[in-house]
Amino acid sequence: MRLVVTLRSRQAVGPRAQISRIKMLDVEVRELMQAFVLSDYQVQEVYSRFCAEIAKGLKRSTHVQANTKCFPTYVQDLPTGDEMGKYLALDLGGTNFRVLLVSLKGHHDATVESQIYAVPKDLMVGPGVELFDHIAECLARFVEKHDMRNSHLPLGFTFSFPCEQIGLKEAILVRWTKGFGCPGVEGENVGRLLHEAIQRRGDVEIAVVAILNDTTGTLMSCAHRNADCRVGVIVGTGCNACYVEDVANVDLLHPDFKRTQRQVLVNAEWGAFGESGQLDFVRTEYDREVDDTSINKSEQLFEKMTSGMYLGRLVRLVLIRAIQRKVLFKLSNRREHFATAMQKNEDVFETRYISEIESDSFPEFPKTRSIITKLFGLEKASVEDCQKIRYICECVSKRAATLVAIGVSGLINRISNRRIVVGMDGSVYRYHPKFDAYMRYTMHKLVKSDKEFDIMLSEDGSGRGAALVAAVASKTK
Ligand code: BGC
Repeated sequence: MRLVVTLRSRQAVGPRAQISRIKMLDVEVRELMQAFVLSDYQVQEVYSRFCAEIAKGLKRSTHVQANTKCFPTYVQDLPTGDEMGKYLALDLGGTNFRVLLVSLKGHHDATVESQIYAVPKDLMVGPGVELFDHIAECLARFVEKHDMRNSHLPLGFTFSFPCEQIGLKEAILVRWTKGFGCPGVEGENVGRLLHEAIQRRGDVEIAVVAILNDTTGTLMSCAHRNADCRVGVIVGTGCNACYVEDVANVDLLHPDFKRTQRQVLVNAEWGAFGESGQLDFVRTEYDREVDDTSINKSEQLFEKMTSGMYLGRLVRLVLIRAIQRKVLFKLSNRREHFATAMQKNEDVFETRYISEIESDSFPEFPKTRSIITKLFGLEKASVEDCQKIRYICECVSKRAATLVAIGVSGLINRISNRRIVVGMDGSVYRYHPKFDAYMRYTMHKLVKSDKEFDIMLSEDGSGRGAALVAAVASKTK
């Protein structure tokens, strides 16, 4: 299969486009959402604080206090597009676990076969050994099915959690994120845990040659097709970025790795930004409640304002408040019942609804109305209520995209290349109708004027990217 570069189209999303639609809304919903609308001053201030935090993460003397840990990945070569060979890949870190067989074919070409396996909720928080046994079992089933039991294929493991890498195939889990919480893994070498689980089975022979973050995979996968790619970003269940840094700035990288190459990919782990209070001046009461009720309170605060695991929860809390304050369903006498329906479960308003609602047609609102029916049992919501719900979603997603754009601009401005392509992936970015346009709007304000940027949608970064890291690693051995 020939892979084609997908560059997203540009859409008008500036203040004018939004104002023309919200003119018709009543003042109460605008007041309710005011706290989500970032002013130019706030955008600039978050930008400065973010850049300072990245610099702290890179420096040995300040690394411990930094939120954004900026871990060196030990990936130093970008792909050329000529890579060849078959590789296995594992992908753990979102809602599903996947095993993949990737064939790199040269000429920037690759094919991927994959199998998705569910990760049951109890495994996400149960003993770590059981999680790794499950991963090894899925891997064994996959190689059996593809008749590759004794093929000794090299394997790249995309493990999308904050890890301190001590080499390409050694990664110590610093903390769980995104609802995972298996005891016995934090502080441990994830490569070793996988190796031991494979050994315990004894029925497959696989060489784990690289452990990588999904953002690294995204960057590599996009660089495989576009030589200007220097930043990889995920806005999915979690949110994070990886970028190409000059080795001279990466204090944590062992001097041996500085001699041969001028650059190294750095995993920013920007989801943790804000843990020292840097975002408190823009966080709302809803952000605080989402954090208070999460399993990792006070952690991953930037992620909690930007990623798919939390955006639906934020909208849900705003909707409850809007119903209680009679901003929504003004004329209904079933408001109390509606509010209770939303209180049932924190994930009742799924993040994908935001994309569906924002891409709905005005004034019919068929998708919005069917979501309202599903959530509240209300058959014929008014156009006004549909518009208000859409505005609530817009404010939450636009703020998320603005924050992501702030981070991306900060990274672009650190890189010396004049032209920079940003590889993006994750369900929020991929499926939201305007996330890309919202991001570009802010990036045009923040990226230095002597630079040119573009955004590119990644094709399976976690699979193809893992194979590319494994391929590049074997080349440099
Ligand atoms: C993790 C990152 C990951 C991101 C996107 C975050 O929760 O800390 O390592 O890249 O999610 O999956």
